[in-house]
Amino acid sequence: MPARAQRLELIPPYLFAEIARIKAEAVASGADIIDLGIGDPDLPTPTAVINALTEAAHDPETHRYDETARGWEPFLDAAASWYGRTFGPQLDPKKEFVQLIGSKEGLAHLAWTYIDPGDVSIVPNPGYTVYKVNTLMAGGEVHETPLRPENDMLPVLADIPTDIARRAKLFYVCYPHNPTGATATREFYEDAVAFCRDHDIILVNDMAYATVAYDGFVNPTVLQVEGAKDVAIEFHSLSKMYNMTGWRLGFALGNAQVVQNLQRLKSNIDSKQFPAVAQAGAYALENLNNDDTLAMYEKRRDALCDGLNAIGWPVTKPKSAFYVWAKVPRTDMTSAEFAGALLKQAHIVAIPGNGYGTEGEGYVRMSLTLKGDQNGERFAEAVRRIQASGLIP
Ligand SMILES: Cc1ncc(COP(=O)(O)O)c(C=O)c1O
Repeated sequence: MPARAQRLELIPPYLFAEIARIKAEAVASGADIIDLGIGDPDLPTPTAVINALTEAAHDPETHRYDETARGWEPFLDAAASWYGRTFGPQLDPKKEFVQLIGSKEGLAHLAWTYIDPGDVSIVPNPGYTVYKVNTLMAGGEVHETPLRPENDMLPVLADIPTDIARRAKLFYVCYPHNPTGATATREFYEDAVAFCRDHDIILVNDMAYATVAYDGFVNPTVLQVEGAKDVAIEFHSLSKMYNMTGWRLGFALGNAQVVQNLQRLKSNIDSKQFPAVAQAGAYALENLNNDDTLAMYEKRRDALCDGLNAIGWPVTKPKSAFYVWAKVPRTDMTSAEFAGALLKQAHIVAIPGNGYGTEGEGYVRMSLTLKGDQNGERFAEAVRRIQASGLIP
C-alpha cells in the first residue's frame, strides 16, 4: 500500500474527534452529559424547506448534472435578492456569485485556488481551522493575526509585518466570529479593505453566522464598504441560518474575478450540489427567517451567561453566533485541563480554546445548540452542576 501524500501530515488531529472520544467514554459509563461542544443547530430544518425539496426532487430536471456556470440559477437569484434585502448591496447573481457545497468547501478551495508555495494567507488566531490547514496543504505559509479582547477581537492591521503583507494573497477574517462570538464594525471593514487594496491581497470574510444575532443586532458586511468588491469575497451559508447543516449549501459573492477563479477550480473537483437541494435553498432564502430559533438561542444564552455570572464565573453575552467564549476561571489549569475537569466533575462538554489556536489557550467555548433544551432549562442545570463541582474558586 503506497504511503499517503506528505501534505496530509500537515493536518492536526480533528479537534472534535478527540472531544467525541472522551464524551463517548463518559456516556458509556452512564453519565447524563450536557454537550456544549459542537455548534450544530439542534432544531430540525423547517418543514416548508423539506416540502420544497420533495417537490423539486420529483422534477426530473433536477436529476441531472447542474451544467450552469456558477450554480443553479433560481438559487443564485434568491441568494442575490436575499443579500440585497438583508444587507443592502446588490450584486449580479450571474457574475458575482458562486454556489458552494457548504461554505467550508468554498473557504477551503479558495486557498487551493490562490496559494502557491511561498505565498501567505493571513488567518485569525483563534479561528476556524479550515483557512490555515488548506493554506498549508496547498504549500503556502500562514501568518496568524492574534485576536485579543483589548482589540475587540479584531486583527491589528498595523502589526502585520510588511514582508508578510507583500507575500500575502489571502486575508481571512470571520465575523460573527467562531469561536469567540465577536462581531466586526463598519470601520474595521473599511480599514481592512484599504489594507488589502494597498497590498494587493484578497479580503475573505467568512460570514457563516451572518444572521445569527440577538437583541436586534444586525451584522455589518464587508461588501457594504464602498469599493470592497475590488478586493473582497464573502462566504455565506444556509447551515446555521435555516438549520440546514447536513444539506451542504452555501454561496460566495464579491469580486467577479475571484468568484470565477474559485469556480474554475471547483469545476474540476465537484459537479455542484443536487439541484433539488439548491431549489429548496432558494425557497428558504425567499420565504423564511430564523426568528424562532434565534429567540430560543437567546433564552439559552441568558440562562447560561446570567447563571455563570451569578456564581462567580464572569462571561460576556455574545450578540451574534451561538458560542459563549469564557475565560478559564482558575489559574492552575490549562484550557484542556479545565475542559477535562468540567467533563469529569460536572458532565459538561466544552471545547478547550487552544483547539482554535494558541491565542485560545486560557478559554473554553460553549455552544448554545443543545439538543433537547427548550427554554434554557438544561443551561440552568449546567450552571447548577458547575457551581456544585467546586471548579469555580
Ligand atoms: C466559522 C465557520 N465558517 C464556516 C463553517 C462551515 O459551514 P458550512 O460548511 O456548513 O456552510 C463553519 C461551521 O461550523 C464555521 O464555524
